[in-house]
Amino acid sequence: MGVLFSSPQVEFEIIRDKWLEGVAELGRKGVFVGGTSVTSFESKFAQYIGTGQAIGVGNGTDALYLTLKGLGIGPGDEVITAANTFIATVEAIHHTGAMPVLVDCEPDTYLLNVEQAKAAVTTRTKAIIPVHLYGQMVDLSELTVWAEKRNIAIVEDSAQAAGARMNGQMAGSIGTAGCFSYYPDKNLGALGDGGGITTSSNSLASVIKKLRNHGGEVRYQHEIPGFNSRLDPMQAIALELKLAYLDSWSAKRREAASMYEHHLHGIGGIVLPKHRNDESHVFHLYIVRVESEVRDKLRKQLQKKGILTAVHYPKPVHRTAAFSYLPYDEGTFQNAEKYAEEIISLPMNISVTEEQIGQIAQEIQAVLGKVQV
Ligand SMILES: Cc1ncc(COP(=O)(O)O)c(C=O)c1O
Repeated sequence: MGVLFSSPQVEFEIIRDKWLEGVAELGRKGVFVGGTSVTSFESKFAQYIGTGQAIGVGNGTDALYLTLKGLGIGPGDEVITAANTFIATVEAIHHTGAMPVLVDCEPDTYLLNVEQAKAAVTTRTKAIIPVHLYGQMVDLSELTVWAEKRNIAIVEDSAQAAGARMNGQMAGSIGTAGCFSYYPDKNLGALGDGGGITTSSNSLASVIKKLRNHGGEVRYQHEIPGFNSRLDPMQAIALELKLAYLDSWSAKRREAASMYEHHLHGIGGIVLPKHRNDESHVFHLYIVRVESEVRDKLRKQLQKKGILTAVHYPKPVHRTAAFSYLPYDEGTFQNAEKYAEEIISLPMNISVTEEQIGQIAQEIQAVLGKVQV
C-alpha cells in the first residue's frame, strides 16, 4: 500500500473544472495580476476569519514580514516567538532588522510557552508572534489583554491553522493581525505560493496594502518604499473555491486524528499529541513522539511499507546555521531541542482512510514492540 503524506493533488481534482474555467476567464480578460478574483477572495476570507480586512500577498513569509514592517518594527526592536517554529517566522523578524527573541514550547502540545514569552518582554519588545503550530491554536485569551496594556502587538502565525477556532474566535482574528500561508499543502492551500494577512485595524491594513504594491495602492503613486508581493489571481481563484470546503476538510482532519488516537492507543513507547476537544486544532500535521534512538529506524520501516512521514522540524531555530548568531547555547530550550529528536509527522490529509490509519498503527506497533523487548 502507499499512503500519501499530504494530498494537494486530491484537493486539486475537487476544484479542477471550476478553477480551469476561472483561469480561462482571466485569459479572456487579460487580467493576470490583481483584479476582481483577488479582491473577491480577500473579502470572502476576511468574512470567514471575522476580521474587517484580508490582504493577499505573495507567500506566508512575506505576510509575516510585511505585517512587522507595517507595525513599524525595525532595528533596535525585539520580537518574541517560539524556538520550535518553522524558520520563516524568525526570518521575517530578522529581515526587519529587529532581534528575534526565542522561548521554549510546552510539553506535548508543542505550543509556545506563554508565561516564558511574557517573561522575555523588555522595553524593546514590539511584538509577540504566537505560532498556531501543527494546526493547534495557542490560547490567547489572556495574552492579548496583557500585551495590549503594554502596547505590544500580537501577530498570530496562522500559517498552519486556517479554519481553527477557539471559543468562537478564528485563528488570525484574535491578535493585532493574523498571517497565513497558502502553500499548496497547507489546510487552505493554493496551487503555488500565496499568503494573506487578516486584521481589523484599517490603518495597519492600509500600510500593508501599500507595502505589498510598490508603496502605493494606486499605480505610480509611491507613497512609501514598498515591495512587490501580491497574491496571484490564479491562486485567488483556487483559494476561493477551496474556502468553501475548508470547514468540511477540517472536520475530516479531526476525524483522522481521532482514528489515530483510537488505533495508536495502548502502543508502548509512543506519545500522542495533547489537544482540547473542540475546533481549536485543525490537524495540519499529526505529530507523535518516540525515543530518539528509534525515530529514524521507525521512519525507515514505515517508508519501506510505502508510508511517508516527515519531521517538523529537525532543528529548533537557534540550532540552525542561519540563526547561530542568536545568543542561545545548546540546552537553552530543552523541550524544543529534545522534541526535535523525537517527533514524527504521520500522514495527515483529507483523503487518508481508517484502513490506512489502522495499517500505519500496526506497522508502528511492530517496530516499537521489537525495540521494547
Ligand atoms: C508556521 C509557519 N510560518 C510561516 C510559514 C511561511 O509560509 P510560506 O511558505 O508560504 O512562505 C510557514 C509555511 O511553511 C509556516 O509553517
